[in-house]
Amino acid sequence: MKTAESPIGIFDSGIGGLTVANAVLNTLPRESFIYFGDTAHLPYGDKSPDTIKRFSLAITDFLLQNKVKLIIIACNSASAAAFEAVQEHADKFGIRVVNVIDPVVEYISSSRHNKVGIIGTRATIGSQIFPAKIAAANPLIEVATLATPLLAPMIESGFVKGDISKAIVEAYLNDPVLDNIDAIILACTHYPLIKKEIAQYYKDNNKKVEILATNEIVAQYVKNLLRDENLISNSEEVEHHFYVSDFTESFADTTKLFYKKEVHLQFAPIFSGEN
Ligand code: DGL
Repeated sequence: MKTAESPIGIFDSGIGGLTVANAVLNTLPRESFIYFGDTAHLPYGDKSPDTIKRFSLAITDFLLQNKVKLIIIACNSASAAAFEAVQEHADKFGIRVVNVIDPVVEYISSSRHNKVGIIGTRATIGSQIFPAKIAAANPLIEVATLATPLLAPMIESGFVKGDISKAIVEAYLNDPVLDNIDAIILACTHYPLIKKEIAQYYKDNNKKVEILATNEIVAQYVKNLLRDENLISNSEEVEHHFYVSDFTESFADTTKLFYKKEVHLQFAPIFSGEN
């Protein structure tokens, strides 16, 4: 039986979702959570929807076994490919699932933006889920999408500042498809880590573009949802557990970048031959 003190389950292909976990923690400091990073299968952004769905369902099982009160799919690629399947499965246990797409679509659709750029992995952009949902919610907003597949691996490798990342960020943002946008959605949970660099690009080019990092929007959405369901924790005893499907020292190091503090990663062998 879920209670306000039950943990929130959060997952991503790797450690990008820690930007969401961090934002949730800033907004809801008394929540416990269980984080799962599917580091054995990273990146999701280049996988097929069926494969992403299979991995996401296995992780959902793991989180449900750990008695979470809510699941956050802290990955745009998995949100695009697997949200319905994950929600259908979690429904059997009476558990709500939050993806990182709907809260952002809701936010942008009620804004006054004219043309919105969206950058993300091939899986997210290829799904066309953002243009479809925004068009349904507010057809007056023009949407321009661009797959930026080098960004997540670049960030995973620790290249968030310096000439290499600057050149890659510039090359993508210079793409004419993004001309005349007045907002840009960072539709990958890795990208909040280069928000500053993206802001600098627009500053240097004298362009006024609002940069929307999905982690903060999602954290606010989760707070409202938990409040509506009377599930906000007031507990003094907060526990945060971090699991990965493959463990390397370099991941342990990079985790600090995402979570902004030291994290003890545990190995969870939830994937077997058949899943
Ligand atoms: N964090 C994932 C997302 O939000 C991207 C990383 C990956 O390709 O696995 O889409």
